[in-house]
Amino acid sequence: MSTNPIGIFDSGIGGTSIFKEIYALMPHENIIYLADSANAPYGNKSRERIQELSIKNTELLISKGCKIIVVACNTATTNAIDYLRNTYSIPFIGIEPAIKPASLNTKTKSIGILATKGTLSSTLFHKTTDLYANGVTIIEKEGEGIVTLIEEGKLYSNEMQVLLDKYTKPMLDANIDYLVLGCTHYPYLTPILSKILPKHIKIIDSGFAVAQQTKSVLEQNSILNTSIIKPLIEFYTNTNTTILNEILERKFNVEYLDF
Ligand code: SIN
Repeated sequence: MSTNPIGIFDSGIGGTSIFKEIYALMPHENIIYLADSANAPYGNKSRERIQELSIKNTELLISKGCKIIVVACNTATTNAIDYLRNTYSIPFIGIEPAIKPASLNTKTKSIGILATKGTLSSTLFHKTTDLYANGVTIIEKEGEGIVTLIEEGKLYSNEMQVLLDKYTKPMLDANIDYLVLGCTHYPYLTPILSKILPKHIKIIDSGFAVAQQTKSVLEQNSILNTSIIKPLIEFYTNTNTTILNEILERKFNVEYLDF
């Protein structure tokens, strides 16, 4: 079982930000990544539809022998992970926005969060803010349009610049000192956001914490791969392979799969 792959799925290419952290921390693990780009974005879909897509992705990864599944999508985590955990016997790791560290460390008592509508409106998100962000003002912004531009390969476009200027303006007006990236696509925005935001504002995401959590669950279940054989890393997308290849800097093989 320990040599079975880690499965990772996302609404598209954004979960590769999580894949990169997992691969860096556990370079011996076999990994299968599914980019459901044909159905991106998930963020504005109904809870039922997000669950349906998450089940489809999960069943494909389980059919390929995955020993654990990382739901590398904030929207799918908040809307479907409880169902997945209650339905399948393997462990699931989800992604939650880094509200806790931002709330604990903010000096201005004001933080920004950029996430999808599906994440910001979820019960899990409200539970997290109620638990950790007492006394902290949270400026929430739905990143409408961002995922689509990233999936279309328009990361460094004028359209993206206009959106990011618009979404960060109210955060700057509210004197935030932390910006939480609450979608796994968004870490790819960091170079652009760093130019828009003053230096003292820290931009944080959950990638490293998720990789650590995945490792610790593998250890607890005695299924961490300790073999030193070169791992098999497989990427599948149900749209064209170009953008995924680009975001992975062509270091891995990406295959088209109709799923
Ligand atoms: C999306 O597909 O809309 C974004 C995925 C996420 O929330 O991480």
